[in-house]
Amino acid sequence: SDPDLVERARAARAALGDRAFVLGHHYQRDEVIDFADVTGDSFKLAQRAAARPEAEFVIFCGVHFMAESADILTTDAQQVVLPDMAAGCSMADMAEIGQVEEAWAVLEDAGIAGDTVPVTYMNSTAAIKAFTGRHGGTVCTSSNAQVALRWAFDKVGGVDGTGKVLFMPDQHLGRNTAVLQLGMSLDDCVVFDPRKPGGGLTAQELRDARMILWRGHCSVHGRFSQRNVDDVRAKVPGVNVLVHPECKHEVVTAADMVGSTEYIIKALEAAEPGSSWAIGTELNLVRRVARAHPDKQVHYLDSTVCFCSTMNRIDLPHLVWAMESLVEGRVVNRIVVDADDAHWARVALDQMLALPG
Ligand code: 13P
Ligand code: SF4
Repeated sequence: SDPDLVERARAARAALGDRAFVLGHHYQRDEVIDFADVTGDSFKLAQRAAARPEAEFVIFCGVHFMAESADILTTDAQQVVLPDMAAGCSMADMAEIGQVEEAWAVLEDAGIAGDTVPVTYMNSTAAIKAFTGRHGGTVCTSSNAQVALRWAFDKVGGVDGTGKVLFMPDQHLGRNTAVLQLGMSLDDCVVFDPRKPGGGLTAQELRDARMILWRGHCSVHGRFSQRNVDDVRAKVPGVNVLVHPECKHEVVTAADMVGSTEYIIKALEAAEPGSSWAIGTELNLVRRVARAHPDKQVHYLDSTVCFCSTMNRIDLPHLVWAMESLVEGRVVNRIVVDADDAHWARVALDQMLALPG
């Protein structure tokens, strides 16, 4: 990156000192990660957001829903800044609170709302997390989806009972976790399409289901296919295929290992020198992992899949602008969740943070 800009970033970071705390998600660009005090997956960043209550500013290098969660979890005095407001998440955009409320009304009409626990993936708006808190559910991330689902099913009679989970908004994480980790069958899962009346399902289909999956997905991970796994296995004998659980069921089933971004990093740290890996997740992370392990062969699962375009919105110019503005006393791009939503979203986030490790 531009050496002048790096110099300005260093100067602004030094001027802010302990007044600022910079968090960076693993999908961020190298030029941004260089300035992060803590890097992590979305769970670790939620845990760490509140780690520096004395810092006036929490600069969140990640996407909007993560910064909202940081605002909810930090003190009222702390201000959370997202260096580019256009850093959203296409998956989070696939569920709007109005649609979720309508979906719940459909479950009520089918007579199953009382027997259903909402579980929302971190990748959702604060309003949906608040809905989840109000209805006795929990937030989860890709690193604790299994415990979150077990906890939710335990509230309504256990995994082997008849209770249900409404899982939003990532159908793949919900399906992969229910089938591969909880032992449910694909037939236990139905997809609720918010664009269709009644979700596109009959009341009987809803009553028969155990996992009601929101029709949402990640545009980056949705592009990996089983073909990619077959191709890399043919090309690289003995390769270990490691993918994120936002990938389609066929991909996760064909892979050797599945886990969050933090899990992927740890798996490579623990890997034998000389071993070969094909990783199915966002490209900034895969490139960094490859660079960190020159003694291991790291392949990208599909060379045509690119970066997460919204994660990439946060670049050094935006970070410099945000930090220099704070140095000059102007708080730009502050993320504020309204008090009522913040209260109930916190209930659902605290529930996640209290799940057994
Ligand atoms: P992690 O929870 O693994 O960090 O994933 C977040 C995300 O947005 C993946 O697309
Ligand atoms: Fe959202 Fe996918 Fe980007 Fe993660 S990788 S922030 S789920 S669009």
